[in-house]
Amino acid sequence: MSTAPRDAGAEATARTPLTLVRGEERQPAQRHTRRSYAAGLGFVRTLAQRVAEDVTGAMERDPAAGSRLEVVLTSPGLHAVWGHRAAHALWRLPGGRLPARLLATGVRFATGVEIHPAARIGRRFFIDHGMGVVIGETAEVGDDVMVYHGVTLGGRSMARIKRHPTVGNRVTIGTGARVLGPVEIGDDVQIGANSVVVKDIPSGAVATGIPARLRFPKKGGLNQWVDPAIYI
Ligand SMILES: CC(C)(COP(=O)(O)OP(=O)(O)OC[C@H]1O[C@@H](n2cnc3c(N)ncnc32)[C@H](O)[C@@H]1OP(=O)(O)O)[C@@H](O)C(=O)NCCC(=O)NCCS
Repeated sequence: MSTAPRDAGAEATARTPLTLVRGEERQPAQRHTRRSYAAGLGFVRTLAQRVAEDVTGAMERDPAAGSRLEVVLTSPGLHAVWGHRAAHALWRLPGGRLPARLLATGVRFATGVEIHPAARIGRRFFIDHGMGVVIGETAEVGDDVMVYHGVTLGGRSMARIKRHPTVGNRVTIGTGARVLGPVEIGDDVQIGANSVVVKDIPSGAVATGIPARLRFPKKGGLNQWVDPAIYI
């Protein structure tokens, strides 16, 4: 065993693990800061991408949209969705439920759209015109879904169970339609204006009327986004 005296620097190195990054010695605290900074940057980048794809979706589905800036500044549907995303994030934090409800109430006041903070909403969700949309606590909505004003994804039971609809991907729900209860709406479904849906709808169907009746258009026979200019 060596009895050679160790120098102070070597002793410090043995006590505190150091890392060489580009020739510099970094303490663990510095590495932590660096990682937090990278995570923060990643979060901001993802957020910006999500906002950009929301705006692109709105431009594609609203023929009245003039420019991206106009959509960002004036679309109550987008504002409601962004507000909901913030409220949903708060809802999932310990102690975040009251602030989430308060935020959702503020968003409702500003946009006329009431989405419970617990509702799960997919990517590129677009609400045209905003006003009068209600989405309940246990609702689940897939990606690329579009709803018009006055749509309700509501419950039919007072029990604290899954009581709101589950909506698939690429679904369009016309103005004033009500989808009630824990029904399953498949992918690529179109629900007509003012329809009332109380039963499951298989993928690819068009549902209209009260209670909604189903028909199955030929593939490619129906636009994914129904041109609102036709109906306004
Ligand atoms: C349901 C919908 C997607 C069907 O579109 P489509 O396949 O092009 O339908 P068509 O116009 O060919 O109509 C097919 C049949 O369904 C009927 N129909 C269409 N929409 C209906 C509705 N909302 N409620 C009841 N019946 C409806 C039509 O009268 C027609 O009946 P017929 O075969 O007896 O003549 C569309 O009518 C709709 O309601 N879109 C919502 C649009 C909206 O909310 N716009 C708001 C803009 S602000």
